[in-house]
Formats: sequence, structure tokens, C-alpha cells
Amino acid sequence: MSTDFVAGGVGRVRLNELLERERAEFVDRHPRSAAAYARAEHLFGKVPMTWMNKNAAGFPVYVDRAHGARLIDIDGSEYVDFCLGDTGAMAGHSPAPVVAAVTRRLGDLGGASTMLPTEEAATVGAELSRRFGLPAWSFTLTATDANRWAIRLLRAVTGRSRILVNSYCYHGSVDESLIVVGSDGRPRSREGNVGAPCDVTMTSRVAEFNDLDGLARELAHGDVAAVLMEPALTNIGIVLPEPGYLDGVRALTRQHGTYLINDETHTFSAGPGGATAAWGLTPDVVTIGKAIGGGIPVGAYGLSAELAAALTGRADLDLVDMGGVGGTLAGNPVSIAATRATLQEVLTDDAFAGMIDVATVFADGIRKIIDGYSLPWSVSQLGARVEYRFAAPAPRTGTESAACADPALEDYLHVYLINRGILMTPFHNMALMCPQTTVEDVARHHEVFADALGELLA
Ligand SMILES: Cc1ncc(COP(=O)(O)O)c(C=O)c1O
Repeated sequence: MSTDFVAGGVGRVRLNELLERERAEFVDRHPRSAAAYARAEHLFGKVPMTWMNKNAAGFPVYVDRAHGARLIDIDGSEYVDFCLGDTGAMAGHSPAPVVAAVTRRLGDLGGASTMLPTEEAATVGAELSRRFGLPAWSFTLTATDANRWAIRLLRAVTGRSRILVNSYCYHGSVDESLIVVGSDGRPRSREGNVGAPCDVTMTSRVAEFNDLDGLARELAHGDVAAVLMEPALTNIGIVLPEPGYLDGVRALTRQHGTYLINDETHTFSAGPGGATAAWGLTPDVVTIGKAIGGGIPVGAYGLSAELAAALTGRADLDLVDMGGVGGTLAGNPVSIAATRATLQEVLTDDAFAGMIDVATVFADGIRKIIDGYSLPWSVSQLGARVEYRFAAPAPRTGTESAACADPALEDYLHVYLINRGILMTPFHNMALMCPQTTVEDVARHHEVFADALGELLA
């Protein structure tokens, strides 16, 4: 698919010419960002975190300010931000209630890091419980840690060693998740996974998303403590579940005595209680992070009553110290204050309704443009999140979706959009709506997107 994406007779040569032109334009427009990048010789990879080198243009834009759905870089360019910190800012940048709650806790009351509870934590636990249906919550600082700690606990409670994930999933830098189904159908380490503590095929099993036969085969080994999955894949494009798939997963995990973790870090876009509530799912554990803190680091995991009782009933499990979960700053008062404000005042039920409406306008518009050029692409929507892939029909599995990636085409679209004031997530063609994103923002995106395709295909 990646070589024949062009329906209008223009191909790679034209794409590469335009990509070079847009990259040159980006350099012209961003002298201060270029200089900041050049100066950062004491940062590993020249960036605060190596992922920030994932950018379409050769160096990142440097942030000056960001509010709501808008971001301004140090060169003075203003963007409609559909990346939103790859979901970290799904509540919009610096929402006023979160700023107020953090200011109050950090400045007025003080006590950012005490390793003591604040009363607000129980309020947050109750709200997460109302949304996701699981009664017992604990906090981390990242979604990665929520996943790590959840799988640690499920190994403890089952006495089983393996974790099963979907091929081309992403659950943070969790060693157990870096496994894919190889072209021979056998499990193998994912490309780039170097430095793991042991071969990932020793700790993990893998099945394709939407493949109940594959899941049944892997669970039949009887050694899988937990299935860790997103109810829809969101990190290799959006891959939606087929009818009956998620019910099948639940039935199979129950049949094999395997716990089910829904990682809602991104699928939270489906609604106030994520895909779990939107689709009536009944996992044993929900993990989440990013958006719930309104920009402040926080992660959380929620446990079923049965699981919480089984864990606290284990006399040999040292949950207070050496049990392998917990962290000094986890559950700190600032994260908790930010999460309370985000959930109660920003990412409310009403806010989700508006975000999802705007995302629907986004998805419909993209479909129309793509259809106008008869491109064999597809558009998938998950609540407030929309993504297009260079394949039609939409991929059913992570492996199919990985196969239709086209880095040069993605880079062209990204840098073309950046040069005209639109930010998409650098990892794929994902656009996320926050409460402040407007249909006018979407219209602006579509105008630029149509121009980008027009130049490519004219
Ligand atoms: C589904 C999912 N889970 C977990 C994570 C990890 O989040 P963090 O990097 O904030 O730990 C991510 C990050 O993209 C994610 O997409």
C-alpha cells in the first residue's frame, strides 16, 4: 500500500520534492528553535527526553506558551494543537480549574511532597470508581508505572509468570509489552527492543488484536497472569474492536483464570469512563494516566473488589514496602489536586459530549477529502480521537496497521501542517480534541490538509 498511495499518477519523486521544500520552509520559519536545538549539547540526544527527536522536520519546535487548544513556539508561530501532548493535554493546556487547584496546593497550602495522604485522594478514587466501575484505586506518576505495578500485583496473586499483550500494542516502557507476532506467526521481540532484562518471549505471550483463536491458543498454556490490552489499539493508528471481540476476550480470560487489564490511557477519549464505560466492559483492572492530571504527572490503577481482597489477604505480599509497587512521589498532593480538578471541572460528561461532536466533524471532513481524491485510506474515530491510515478498509490488527505506515508521507503531511499552524501527534496521524477545540479549528485543519493533498496529487 505504501508505494501506490497516489491515485493521481504522482508518486515518490513528487512526495520527496515536496517534503524537502517543506523542511526547508520549516528551517526558515524556526531560527530560534534551530538555535535552541543546536545549543543543547548537554542533553542526551539534544532533547530533554529522547522521544522528542521524533519530529518530521529535523528538530522540534520549542514551546513558549500553551493554553487551551493553542500553542505558541519561541519563534512566535501559533498552532492549533491536535497533538495535545499525545493525550497528556486532552483537558486542554493549563485549564483554569487545574491551575487554581495546583496553585492552591503548591503555593497557598504547601506540601507538594509529603508521603502523607490528602483528603482529596478519596474524592478522586470515588470519581474514578464512578466512571470506570472498579472500586479500589491506587496512584502512580505515569501510566507506564500503573501498568508495571498492576502486572506485578497480578503475578503475585495468580502465581503465574506471563503477561499477554496484543501485537504492536503500546503500554509505555513496560518490558513485557515489547513483543510482536512475527511474519512466521511466532512471537518475537519488537524491533528496537534492545537491553531487556531477558528475552521477552520468556515473560510474555502475544496475540493479534481481533483474533480470538490466537488468544485462546495462547491462554491455553495456563501460565498467563493477565491480558494487558487497550480496548481499541491507539498507538499503531486506531484499530477498533470487531463486534463480539471484547466479549470474547472477557469470556476467554475468565475461562483460563487470567485477569484482564484495560489500559485506558488513550481510550479515555471514548468518553468520561473511557471505553470501559462506553462499551459496557468489565475488566478486573483499569490503568490510566496522562489526561486525568490535566497536564500534571499522574497515573492510576483501579482493582475489582475481589482482586483487592485477594491482594490484601496475602500475608506474604509486602504492599507497604518491598512488594514491588509504590513510589515516594506517587499519590502526591499536587497530582491529586490536579486530578480532582480535571475530573470534576474539566473533563466532565458535558465536555466529552462536545469534544466527541467536534471529533465527528473532524472525521467526516477527512473522509470527504480522502474520498474526493479516491485515496485508498481509512479514517477511524474513538470518541474525541481521530486517525487516518494509508489503507482501506481500516486495518483489523496491529500487524496490518504497522504494515501500512508510510514515514515519508507522514512526515510530509506533518511538516506541511506545522508550517501552516497545525500540530498533529508526531507518532502517527492522530488528532485529539480538547474541550476548547472548535469546529473552526477543524475547518482550518481540513483546508490545509486538502491543500497538502492537492499539491501532492494535482
Ligand atoms: C495506552 C498507553 N498506555 C500507557 C502509556 C504510557 O504512558 P506514559 O508514557 O505517560 O507512562 C501510553 C503512552 O503513550 C499509552 O499510549
